[in-house]
Amino acid sequence: MHIDPLEKKWLYIALGMVALFLGSIFISLAVGIKPPSNVETIDPARLHLSEEFAEDNLGVHIQPDGRITVIMVAGRYGFFPRHITVPADTPITFRWASIDVLHGVHMPMTNMSTMVVPGYVAEVTTTFPKPGDYPMLCNEYCGLGHDYMWSKVTVVA
Ligand code: CUA
Repeated sequence: MHIDPLEKKWLYIALGMVALFLGSIFISLAVGIKPPSNVETIDPARLHLSEEFAEDNLGVHIQPDGRITVIMVAGRYGFFPRHITVPADTPITFRWASIDVLHGVHMPMTNMSTMVVPGYVAEVTTTFPKPGDYPMLCNEYCGLGHDYMWSKVTVVA
């Protein structure tokens, strides 16, 4: 079979790129690179059985030392619970886990933004200076309902 020399050249370039991509995946696996702000691993299929992300444990928790933790699950299409209320001027630690695919958390007009990668717990600590209602939006395309994936955060003084 005859292959045009130019075609052959591009074939090699394409194969080289595939090797580069695969290589970078293997290297990141080998040295254990994790997505940013995803601190712990978790089995998405067993979330509902885990103590932390079980349905009746979702929401706002006040720890014995006064810290506030918010446990949420991201899934097509929403962040659950759909509406939470937290105090202003207080450090709040959010922890998310995805039940299905990659989602992103973004709250416009705040510094809140992170990815929620299936298999990892995403953790962000932030403080909301201004009371008000804030949308919590998904900013990673996750399917047909992506544009409607949002929940509400009410910040009270
Ligand atoms: Cu979830 Cu886009």
